[in-house]
Amino acid sequence: MEYSVHELAITGENPPAKYIYTDSINPSQDPSIPLPLLEIPVIDFNRITTPSVGTGAELERLRSALSSYGCVMVTNHGVESSLMDRVRLVFKQFLALPMEQRLKCQKEADGFEGFGSDMILTKDVAAAVRHFSCRLRLTTWPEDKRQMKYWPEQPHDFREVLDEYSSKLLVLHDATLRAMARSLSLDDDSTFLNAVREGGSISARFNFYPPCPTPDRALGLKPHSDGTVITYLLQDGEVEGLQVLKDEQWFRVPNVPDALVLHVGDHLEIMSNGEFKSPVHRVVLNPERQRMSVVIASFPEEGRQIEPLEGLVSGERPRLYRQVKYSIVDQVGYYWSGTRVTDDARI
Ligand code: OGA
Ligand code: NI
Repeated sequence: MEYSVHELAITGENPPAKYIYTDSINPSQDPSIPLPLLEIPVIDFNRITTPSVGTGAELERLRSALSSYGCVMVTNHGVESSLMDRVRLVFKQFLALPMEQRLKCQKEADGFEGFGSDMILTKDVAAAVRHFSCRLRLTTWPEDKRQMKYWPEQPHDFREVLDEYSSKLLVLHDATLRAMARSLSLDDDSTFLNAVREGGSISARFNFYPPCPTPDRALGLKPHSDGTVITYLLQDGEVEGLQVLKDEQWFRVPNVPDALVLHVGDHLEIMSNGEFKSPVHRVVLNPERQRMSVVIASFPEEGRQIEPLEGLVSGERPRLYRQVKYSIVDQVGYYWSGTRVTDDARI
């Protein structure tokens, strides 16, 4: 059933065979071989948005970080840590509800919103089974696209907390995309933002990863890059699990409770003509402890044509990607088949 991953966590059973790789795919989870910690660049959000003497230098740090790492740790982002704690708390409270309560928000088999495991759209069973997690996904922007039937009524302040968090993240999202455009000296700093504002959407994804007694044989999320414009990740605060691939080596992303992790999405990589890189990342499981994360991600309008911006294509910087049409079904397909839209679009 859709909610079985979460039920397993409650009963403390091992993941069933279908979630387990037959061979050890993640020997680095052996505690005797710890992975290195990623020296993820830290960006002071205030300094990239408040015009001052330091802005140019900080924008250049942002550009350089997004072109080599594709992800940064954002501090001074204006979201109070008490609000971040409340977001984590309401999700934990939701998970602790009796099953009948959670089922009220259950995703339909062919839908994208609500609580459950992701839809499996591939016939390749071997590719489909490789992750052990479940999530609650809700569109938060624009408000008229919210499907309130999937928004939990319990805990009683869930909706209020998500509404407050998503409005703070909307401000951050827009300012970030403008700063990214300015860091590439684009004439119009709303160019990236328009890919979301013109018919696109933003959604929240509350991810839950149960403890897993064999963490070398299963993954919370398999290696992927985000099929988004950008993604903002709120980490667990206590339990680490996110890893990023850089120069063909996996690194652990440090768990800084008050910071937000920003990822470039595949569609921004294409629009930026490869100036920004969409990082490949995965989630590993912890043998004893459960973990959660909350993602706010932005998407283009379904059917929108995505291509490199003219201003970023020149004699010295030839066009790297052909035009691709954004499709959520294709994105899910990429995840399950372990491929990426950026590879498909590459000229
Ligand atoms: C995702 C993702 C990472 C995490 O939801 O796309 O990569 O730490 N999440 O949960
Ligand atoms: Ni991701």
